[in-house]
Amino acid sequence: MKLSVIGAGYVGLVTAACFADRGHQVIGVDTVEEKVRGLNRGEVPVYEPGLEDLTRRNLDAGRLTFTTNTAQAVRDGEIIFISVGTPSRSGGEADLTAVATAAEQVAEALPGYRLIVEKSTVPVRTGERIKQVMQLATRGAVEFDVACNPEFLREGSAIEDFQRPDRIVLGVDTERAERLLRELYRGFDCPILVTDLSTAELIKHASNAFLALKISYINAIANLCDRVGADVEVVADGMGYDRRIGRAFLDAGVGYGGSCFPKDLAAFVKIAEEVGYDFALLREVQKVNAEQRDLIIRHLQQAVWVLSGRTIALLGAAFKPNTDDVRESPAVEIGRRLVRDGAALRVYDPAALHNFLQEVPEAQPCRDSYDAAAGADAVVVLTAWDEFRTLDLARLRSVLRRPVVVDGRNIFDPPTMRAAGFLYYGIGR
Ligand code: UDX
Repeated sequence: MKLSVIGAGYVGLVTAACFADRGHQVIGVDTVEEKVRGLNRGEVPVYEPGLEDLTRRNLDAGRLTFTTNTAQAVRDGEIIFISVGTPSRSGGEADLTAVATAAEQVAEALPGYRLIVEKSTVPVRTGERIKQVMQLATRGAVEFDVACNPEFLREGSAIEDFQRPDRIVLGVDTERAERLLRELYRGFDCPILVTDLSTAELIKHASNAFLALKISYINAIANLCDRVGADVEVVADGMGYDRRIGRAFLDAGVGYGGSCFPKDLAAFVKIAEEVGYDFALLREVQKVNAEQRDLIIRHLQQAVWVLSGRTIALLGAAFKPNTDDVRESPAVEIGRRLVRDGAALRVYDPAALHNFLQEVPEAQPCRDSYDAAAGADAVVVLTAWDEFRTLDLARLRSVLRRPVVVDGRNIFDPPTMRAAGFLYYGIGR
């Protein structure tokens, strides 16, 4: 099939490259000329394992191209995906300017029937709005359908998530749209759920919010564990064996970050408010998440007493491992707070150091974990990168000024850490 993907951000790029890899002819569109030029040379501006190879392979095969020309992409594609950014406004609601602009540009360029598919995470009823904008712009002269096909990609495993999804959700309101999307997704081995636009939009919001809720739930349990001397990891294992609950997303720690959960939750709370429902449950999820960051600072204060004049080593800057993304990363907020309190920061992350320094320029970048720990009064683990799990504990201890480890991701075994001579703080252990 011929596809166009408007917006070469994270979701758009993965979508474009993965569909091209399935044999479709794909055009990716972005407004930033330099980015488009780079992409056509196979330079992928985001860090995602496998994405650059996939992009290059499909560029070389002639199935994938990038352009700044929306009109051309609308002419050439039978299905037009809109996957532009939807940043948060200060009140928490999603800023849909880019979505509205894209919809208008598509409408103006429509040469005949096209299926427009929203792929950005958008508030419920955005699909209806896109339809309305397009109807007005085309004055009813050209046929089109609008559909919603939410993505559930995780950074770091986006290609795998695309190729082997748990489910595919198609929000459509005509048979023609359903037929086209079913054809596009033929051969995927997973349930395909066909529903209306608003339900599809809600599935995305409800899923992300539920995952965030699981994380805050286990973090709340971790706080109880700390008070009664129980081990939250074992509690999570015990809960996880119940198939109705499952072990995934029950890792206690410094809380969730990233480009999705914080933004999606804020938008979901806002949408609920707008339609007259106070989603207090989700506000509590946000509160628990924020408190986990306070907890790290409290552990540090307990260990080193005053923060002013201390040197703190941060291991991990990305919001989770296998990405260079620091958006809403706990490390950014904690780093800023430590700097404000007068601490000196030494930071190491295998991929996100450059991005972190844009946010916290006061931090001293380090070449590895031991370099970061050298002369520090405490080490704080904020991202669960695998390489931190296998650190040489004796060496770590020997380079630290004080043997303090605050483990914000529970990657170490508490008895082992204590036996190795550390003053060790985990989360709920
Ligand atoms: C998430 C959703 O998983 C994905 O379906 C959606 O499309 C986009 O948002 P992502 O933000 O890439 O994906 O990361 P995810 O792996 O879900 O982790 C989100 C955050 O939760 C990270 O900061 C992670 O460290 C944290 N987390 C996750 C926990 O603190 N505990 C857990 O048990 C799981």
